[in-house]
Amino acid sequence: MSALDLRSAWHAVVPAESLRDWPIGASVLDEPIALVRMNGTVVALRDVCAHMNVALSGGWVTRYEAGDELVCPSHRWRYNAAGRCTYIPELGDEQVIPEWAAVPSYSAREHYGAIWVRLQSEGQRESNELPQLPDGRWHVAAVQAQTWKAPAQTVLDYFVMQAGNLLGSGTLSACASPLAAVWVKDGCSLAVMVSVTPLTRKASRSFWIAAVDIGIDSHLRTASLTQNEFGHAEFCKGLAHRLASGSDYAATAG
Ligand code: FES
Repeated sequence: MSALDLRSAWHAVVPAESLRDWPIGASVLDEPIALVRMNGTVVALRDVCAHMNVALSGGWVTRYEAGDELVCPSHRWRYNAAGRCTYIPELGDEQVIPEWAAVPSYSAREHYGAIWVRLQSEGQRESNELPQLPDGRWHVAAVQAQTWKAPAQTVLDYFVMQAGNLLGSGTLSACASPLAAVWVKDGCSLAVMVSVTPLTRKASRSFWIAAVDIGIDSHLRTASLTQNEFGHAEFCKGLAHRLASGSDYAATAG
């Protein structure tokens, strides 16, 4: 798989709930990313200020008439959601912003309880769609990302092999992104989605999203998940906890 393929793929980066009113820093394929909510939507900018390389994720969002702007914590240059610098304090009233005063912006979406990023701008052709659960109503839980000391493909192969343990006769129903897959078992309407991102050639990060049919009683689904011999106790524990807690993650697929 070429580097280009991976940059055009959607990667689940952080749980959506971790992105609130202030920016957070993340990394996708070694690219430092500032994730931030601006103008009511999720925005991903390169986390390196065009001025002196300070991390923009250490800044804050301020609302202006023209829209929300991300303020660099160092010298307070301001960036809009497209990554264009809109204001440089040192220029005073003569705001002639140079062309180079900008940072790349990437496609970002909030989807199934996670923030997904594709290392291409919104304007570039959508070569990959976001992974989708099959039709139906689902209660979705995003499980914390985990880091593995293994190449991404090895990790994904492992999940394909182990999916049988979690879902019994469930089948791999979709492969919507080079490193994301959805498994579904119709009998108990359980789906598992995993996004695997290479950190280096020897290390990867996996991000799990699980979903159950919202008609299933939460006690039943928690019990069936914890009794499962998936061989990954922390995953099952976290998953059961998240699925059992509240309706924050209720979602409708599609
Ligand atoms: S480093 Fe960001 S404004 Fe100077």
